[in-house]
Amino acid sequence: MRLLVTGGAGFIGSNFVRHVLAERRDVHVRVLDKLTYAGSRDNLADVLDDARLEFVEGDICDQATVESAADGADAIVHLAAESHVDRSIISAEAAVQTNFVGSFRVFEAARAAGVQRLLHVSTDEVYGACLGEPFVETDPLEPRNPYSATKAGADHLAHSYFVTHGLPVVIARPSNNYGPWQYPEKLIPFFVWRALRDEHLPVYGDGMQVRDWLHVEDHCRALLLLLERGAPGEAYNIHGGDERPNLATIRIILDELGKPEGLIRHVEDRPGHDVRYAMDASKLGALGWEPRVEWESGIRATVRWFAEHRDWMERATARGKAYFEEWYAGR
Ligand code: NAD
Ligand code: TYD
Repeated sequence: MRLLVTGGAGFIGSNFVRHVLAERRDVHVRVLDKLTYAGSRDNLADVLDDARLEFVEGDICDQATVESAADGADAIVHLAAESHVDRSIISAEAAVQTNFVGSFRVFEAARAAGVQRLLHVSTDEVYGACLGEPFVETDPLEPRNPYSATKAGADHLAHSYFVTHGLPVVIARPSNNYGPWQYPEKLIPFFVWRALRDEHLPVYGDGMQVRDWLHVEDHCRALLLLLERGAPGEAYNIHGGDERPNLATIRIILDELGKPEGLIRHVEDRPGHDVRYAMDASKLGALGWEPRVEWESGIRATVRWFAEHRDWMERATARGKAYFEEWYAGR
C-alpha cells in the first residue's frame, strides 16, 4: 500500500506513521507536512531512516504540491491541520486556510490521484458541547469555536465529495488525544511543562469542563482499522470511553510529578468554552475496536514521557514563544 499522510510530523501524525510502519511491512509512507510551529522532523527522528518512509516538506494549501505528493498513492490519511482552539480564537485565519481550504485541496488531489480511500480526520468538537446523551454520528454538527467550525466545514465538504464525486471518504471523529509528542500548548503537556518549572497552572474557569481522553496509540489503531475497513461515506466516532473533569486530570499530573496543588490557578475562561465532549463509539466498536489504555495509568505514563523529554519540550515551546506570551498575558 502506498500511503500519503498529511500532517505526519505533528502529534497524531508522527504516532500514526510509526504505528503503520510497525504494523504493516508492505507499506510505503509519504509524509506531506509544512512544519509549522506544531510539526517537526524531531517527532519522526527514530523512523526517518526507514526506507519505506519519505518526507516531503510542503503546504496542503498549494494544489500543485498536494497533487504531486498524492501522485501514485493508494490511500490518503489527512491529518494536517491548525489544531488548537485557543490559537483559532486569537485569529481564525490559519485554521480557515489549512483546515477548510487545505482540506478542499486534499480532496481535489485525492480525486486526481484516484485513491481507493481517503481517511479524513475530523474531531468530536464538530458536534459542539454535549449537554445530554453522548453524540452519535448522525447528530447535527453544531461547532461553537472557530477551530471546530473549520473542521465541521471540512466534514461537510468531504461528505459532499463522496455524494457528488464518489470520492471514497471515511471520516474519523476522535476525542481529545494524549500521549508522546503532543505539542505543549495542549492541556496535558503544557501543564507538565509549567509544573516542572514550578509555574502556576492556568485553569480556565472552574476547571470542571469534561473531556473524554483517548490515548494516541488507541487512536492510531482505530485509524488503521478505518483506513482498511471503514465504509466510504460514513463517519465514525473514536473515544476513550472515560469522561473526566479537567481538574481530575490536572491533579494526576501534579501527583505524578510530586508537585503541590497550590500551583493550580483559576483564570479567565476561554470564550465559547465547550463544557463537555462525549460521544458514543459503538459504530467503531462493531468493527472490533475498543480502547485499551486505562485513563489514569495512561496519563501517568504520558506525564513521565514528557518529564523525560525536557529537551524536546524546550525546542517545541521555543517555537511557540510569541503565542504563549500573547495568550497567557494576565492569565
Ligand atoms: P498537531 O498540531 O500536533 O499537528 C498538525 C501537523 O499538521 C503539524 O505537523 C503541522 O506542521 C502540519 N500542518 C499544519 N498546517 C499545514 C499545512 N497547511 N500543510 C501541511 N502541513 C500542515 O495536530 P494533531 O494533534 O496531531 O492533530 C492531527 C489531526 O487530528 C488534526 O486534523 C486535528 O484536527 C485532529 N484531532 C486532534 C485531536 C487532539 O486531541 N490532538 C483530537 C481530535 C482531532
Ligand atoms: P485543549 O488541550 O486545548 O483541548 P480542547 O480545547 O480541544 O479540548 O484543552 C483541554 C481542556 O483543558 C479544555 O477544557 C480547556 C482546558 N485548558 C485549561 O484549562 N487551561 C489551559 O491552559 C489549556 C491549554 C486548556
